[in-house]
Amino acid sequence: MAIIELDNVSKVFPRAHRGATPVSAVEDVTLHVEAGEIAGVIGYSGAGKSTLVRLINALEKTTSGTITVDGTRITGLSERRLQRVRLGIGMIFQQFNLFSSRTVWGNIAYPLQIAGVPKDQHQRRVSELLHFVGLADKAHSYPDQLSGGQKQRVGIARALATSPKVLLADEATSALDPETTQDVLRLLKKVNVELGITTVVITHEMEVVKSIADRVVVMERGRVVEDGSAFDVFAHPKHPTTKRFVGTLVADVPTGATLESLRANHPGRLVTLAFHDDSLPQSRAFAELAASGVEFELVHGGMEDVQGRSFGNLTLALRGPDDAIDSALGRLRVGLSATEVA
Ligand SMILES: Nc1ncnc2c1ncn2[C@@H]1O[C@H](COP(=O)(O)OP(=O)(O)OP(=O)(O)O)[C@@H](O)[C@H]1O
Ligand SMILES: [Mg+2]
Repeated sequence: MAIIELDNVSKVFPRAHRGATPVSAVEDVTLHVEAGEIAGVIGYSGAGKSTLVRLINALEKTTSGTITVDGTRITGLSERRLQRVRLGIGMIFQQFNLFSSRTVWGNIAYPLQIAGVPKDQHQRRVSELLHFVGLADKAHSYPDQLSGGQKQRVGIARALATSPKVLLADEATSALDPETTQDVLRLLKKVNVELGITTVVITHEMEVVKSIADRVVVMERGRVVEDGSAFDVFAHPKHPTTKRFVGTLVADVPTGATLESLRANHPGRLVTLAFHDDSLPQSRAFAELAASGVEFELVHGGMEDVQGRSFGNLTLALRGPDDAIDSALGRLRVGLSATEVA
């Protein structure tokens, strides 16, 4: 069941000044996020990612199309009713957006005040949230006294205060170092698994998507250009932009300087074999080469694991009689894709 539904949604920002052209930030986006999933939305700067999340929590109004969140159609809803809808949507940000004059406790209690939760219930809820995010000892600290990772944990606790069904994270780890990024991503995964909260993670880093997303949505110039399970998008990217993103993490057929260096250092024919769980297994492929009298050396590439499924491109330098190599490749190609590097 979809908990967030965007149907043919567009957002055009009017001209900023005379002579400027209107900006089409989101164009005809249809996207259904299933309840309980973590959807990763990736795109380069200006792709429309932030606008998309601001449309989902109704901080921006759609120019056309409709948005439904948890069964409520938010398009055209009054501001008063939107406030109720927003209580069901948590949001975290790149710059954390904490109140510097409030303690950690005060930051997390804030949404409870706004939602009109009776004060005698704050103690228990805030304390529960502090434990959940691992900051029980920081209740009386001020944001300035915390590391970036700790600030984002506070941000997450605050976003969860009113028990939302949906969490939107806009570049929530972009200000953090790689190790802290992984800590925060693990916490987001815990939020998803233990609390069952549907999560939309906006990022320009494929590493983030690879770590936690079940589903990957690629945006470019306001449009969704690819949408699929994390495994499919990583193992079989289709759109050129997706290929560029996947290429930042997964080795492909070598080109350019990498290829030159491989050629200089490894005699033989270079062939890239693509392995995934439906392809010929590695053991069979290597046995086939050996049985054909072809010598091989693994010179480039590697295997990746996404959602517990393995795939990758391995480039081999093959040596032996050309006809032996050709017939071995012919047999391999029945079970996998083998690209001879020109
Ligand atoms: N309030 C606004 N008024 C006018 N134009 C806007 C406004 N907000 C965003 N835009 C424009 O809409 C387009 C998409 O912007 P958006 O912030 O959604 O991109 P993004 O994918 O989040 O980029 P980034 O990765 O840099 O955060 C950009 O061209 C941007 O300049
Ligand atoms: Mg943005």
